[in-house]
Amino acid sequence: MGFRTIEELCTELEDKRKSALSGGGEEAVSKQKSKGKGTARERIAQLLDPGSFVEIDEFVTHRCSNFGLDERKPLGDGVVTGWGTIDGRKVFVYSQDFTVFGGSLGEKHADKICKVMDMAMQMGCPVIGINDSGGARIQEAVDSLNGYGKIFKRNTLASGVIPQISVIMGPTAGGAVYSPALTDFIFMVDKESIMHITGPEVIKAVTGEEVTSEELGGAVTHNTVTGNAHFCAKDESECFAQVRKVLSYLPLNNLDDAPFKATQDSTERADVSLREIVPVNPNKSYDVHEVLCRVFDDGEFTEVQAGYAKNIVTGYGRIGGRSVGIIANNADVMAGCLDINASDKASRFIRHCDAFNLPIVTFVDVPGYLPGLEQEQGGIIRKGAKLLYAYSEASVPLISVIMRKAYGGAYLAMSSKSLGADVVLAWPQAEIAVMGAEGAASIVFKKEIDGADDPSAKRLEKIDEYREAFANPYRAAERGYVDRVIMPEETRKAIAQALDGIESKRETRPAKKHGVIPH
Ligand code: HXC
Repeated sequence: MGFRTIEELCTELEDKRKSALSGGGEEAVSKQKSKGKGTARERIAQLLDPGSFVEIDEFVTHRCSNFGLDERKPLGDGVVTGWGTIDGRKVFVYSQDFTVFGGSLGEKHADKICKVMDMAMQMGCPVIGINDSGGARIQEAVDSLNGYGKIFKRNTLASGVIPQISVIMGPTAGGAVYSPALTDFIFMVDKESIMHITGPEVIKAVTGEEVTSEELGGAVTHNTVTGNAHFCAKDESECFAQVRKVLSYLPLNNLDDAPFKATQDSTERADVSLREIVPVNPNKSYDVHEVLCRVFDDGEFTEVQAGYAKNIVTGYGRIGGRSVGIIANNADVMAGCLDINASDKASRFIRHCDAFNLPIVTFVDVPGYLPGLEQEQGGIIRKGAKLLYAYSEASVPLISVIMRKAYGGAYLAMSSKSLGADVVLAWPQAEIAVMGAEGAASIVFKKEIDGADDPSAKRLEKIDEYREAFANPYRAAERGYVDRVIMPEETRKAIAQALDGIESKRETRPAKKHGVIPH
């Protein structure tokens, strides 16, 4: 009897640490590795600055005794949690350990995640979740469901307060996909990440449809078809590089400033190639990425949701070191028109930028909303309204660059003066009108055209007449809907000047609980 020596006590601690570090044991770890996947701790080490990770709760265990689980109490309970830094800035992190009960989520596993989420909120820092899990821990039944519920509630309350990032590196099934869906961004790894509500077997049993896991919920599917994911990487290391890059544009929380990144790229830089990239003929196409990489610092544009609704482009860049969110119509895809998916994609990104105080720069070249039964019956009215709502609601500095077409309702929707844009710039070839010259002339001069000896010649004459009168930026500039008409090469400088002028913007709104956004 008596006290144990400090050496004995330290050895006990050492053993416990070793046990926690071993996860689900050698066999499970080598199975994980054989699939080309990292372990939970290796992934954290890759994500964070070297040596910065501080783990907490490594000795937490479950308290379930169903189905013999009391015989197996691995330390850490299948998730590694703590904090560290990315580029020297603090982040909180959790990483599910698939080698322990398949990373399944039970009561204490969920409590550990909730604890780091609460800490992230209190400290005002981003939270990054690395998901690799068989879902609800079946043995823990309703306690496990309750665990998910507590995470969903926290995701929702943290939304717009701290950046929340979900990294999917394995299976995510059932209701487990809803935590990622409640966060700002979902990052997936090609051929490794899977997200679905019900798996291929259940689908086959219920509907008879045969589908592979990859087709149903793989990274490519979610990045191109469903729009559920925002980034697709070829492997885990590329995925972590993407996460670090995105965080470099974002403030730590909604009250903080985005990091400033010094650059040698002068804001006075003029790029005359912009005169040629966007053709004056509104029927000719071009890739808007060519414009963006010439305007922003050091040619850098970091795209968000690059594979989904490609008719609109969203992402981050910097002007004179300051982070901005960017939205641009892409003439190369469906002539850059707005449709349901584009409206969804852009609205969400606008709200993300607004929540985190990033000024939004919008590049406009839009012929209108995509016509068609599918669009109308699919709800383009409410989806289009969502875009109007997002821009109207945004109180961050809004800068628009009308490069070419800005027609009708789509002109209004793309960050127009009427919706609250602070500075609207237009290029000399901008056409701000109810519709294109051809459609407008055919309607307004119908009688004259029909009654002419040569209706085709008359129509062309009237199109030219309309184009000359209205297809330019000057009618809108006369009314003050356009603040400045600029040469294409002056765009970078003009955006920098606009930011200087409006970055201190403060807007107060009547108090309300929240609006009712069209969905
Ligand atoms: C408990 C689980 C588990 C789970 C896996 N395991 N999923 N334990 N609860 N949900 C355990 C396995 O028993 C096994 O333990 C170990 O994890 C590894 O699993 P394997 O099947 O050997 O791995 P693999 O072949 O890679 O298959 C992975 C898998 C598969 C595709 C994820 O395990 C699977 O289909 N699991 C069940 C998925 C599921 O239906 N989950 C519930 C979803 S419903 P041993 O001891 O043998 O190593 C849900 C509701 C949430 O999540 C609702 C929230 C609102």
